[in-house]
Amino acid sequence: MKILVTGGAGYIGSHTCVQLLENGMDVVVIDNLSNSSEESLKRVQEITGRSLEFHKIDLLERAWLDALFRDHQFDAVIHFAGLKAVGESVQIPLKYYRNNITGTINLCEAMANHDVKTIVFSSSATVYGEPEQVPITEEFPTSAYNPYGRTKLFIEEILKDLYVSDKRWNIVLLRYFNPVGAHKSGKIGEDPKGIPNNLMPFISQVAVGKLKELSVFGNDYPTSDGTGVRDYIHVVDLANGHVKALEKLVGKTGVHTYNLGTGRGYSVLEIIKAFEKASGRKINYNITDRRPGDIAECYADSDKAHRELNWKTERGIDEMCTDTWHWQSMHPKGYE
Ligand code: NAD
Ligand code: UD1
Repeated sequence: MKILVTGGAGYIGSHTCVQLLENGMDVVVIDNLSNSSEESLKRVQEITGRSLEFHKIDLLERAWLDALFRDHQFDAVIHFAGLKAVGESVQIPLKYYRNNITGTINLCEAMANHDVKTIVFSSSATVYGEPEQVPITEEFPTSAYNPYGRTKLFIEEILKDLYVSDKRWNIVLLRYFNPVGAHKSGKIGEDPKGIPNNLMPFISQVAVGKLKELSVFGNDYPTSDGTGVRDYIHVVDLANGHVKALEKLVGKTGVHTYNLGTGRGYSVLEIIKAFEKASGRKINYNITDRRPGDIAECYADSDKAHRELNWKTERGIDEMCTDTWHWQSMHPKGYE
């Protein structure tokens, strides 16, 4: 199978490229490198001993996309490319709408013009808004509270409309919970620009001495220890979800939606403890106010992916922390 991976130089994309190549698939990556570096792809090739093709292309440039689809016959597209910082999306919403939504429309138009009709889209648990209960199944109502979340929700709806208009499309919506961890080799991992917004990269930068202390956003939530609970999933397990989706769904049609999570929630304090154990470092923290927009508890019911894709997670919280630490301690400055 020949797969086009948009945003393949990024965190989840690079780990997915490893799994695709290791499963014998041919990979072409496009990325504008706005939040990544080509170095990640060099390392993907080092890890796998296989080569992939890379083009620095922005999804906003339609003509380049058409040229790419003329040159290759793809079996499917995995669409990771997008901007993902929630806070930034509130500051510059139009940039998010243009990049994520217009970028996706351009991609789908190029796909339609060249008769490529299987797309696997990176959606997010953010589309469940504030769920009424946990665990969350795919049937839960959706909503969004910020421009980033709305781009995910709108794109899901656009892709569903596409299927309604033409039943030959094969749309796979993968709703990720909280991806963390890194490849075992320590050669690729998450390399956020500036101060990390998310918990795990923040903790690992405290552990490596790059940041002084973690702010724990609130300890008065209705959870076991008062701190927020999330479903952290190892990025390699997540990457494998994409391989399974392709194996099961290429050649089919329809709209297929799956939660990709472990089904187990951990609190912020539990993550701190697990990371201290994995790294042997003390994580300094203090309790601050809640972060606006945060919910108390969020974890997945991933039975559908287990049943229909034969996918399940294999890596627990200790491995997530150990692998994050391995990458971070080998690369205190990321890919720089
Ligand atoms: P990332 O920023 O590391 O990767 C995204 C990649 O897309 C980057 O390499 C970036 O340069 C590229 N890109 C952005 N806009 C582009 C454009 N217009 N044209 C070409 N390339 C472009 O992010 P990630 O964590 O790997 O996330 C991948 C996808 O998964 C994103 O769509 C994100 O919204 C989604 N997602 C991520 C998380 C998470 O916590 N990391 C959770 C849920 C969903
Ligand atoms: C955040 C985004 C969500 C996005 C997801 C993955 C917000 C409001 N939500 O989710 O839309 O899909 O990332 O990219 O930004 N925490 C701290 N201190 C920190 C950072 C986080 O205590 O410095 C806590 C949070 O309050 C939360 C947990 O750690 O309880 C996880 O936070 P984070 O990693 O940012 O993920 P989400 O909030 O789940």
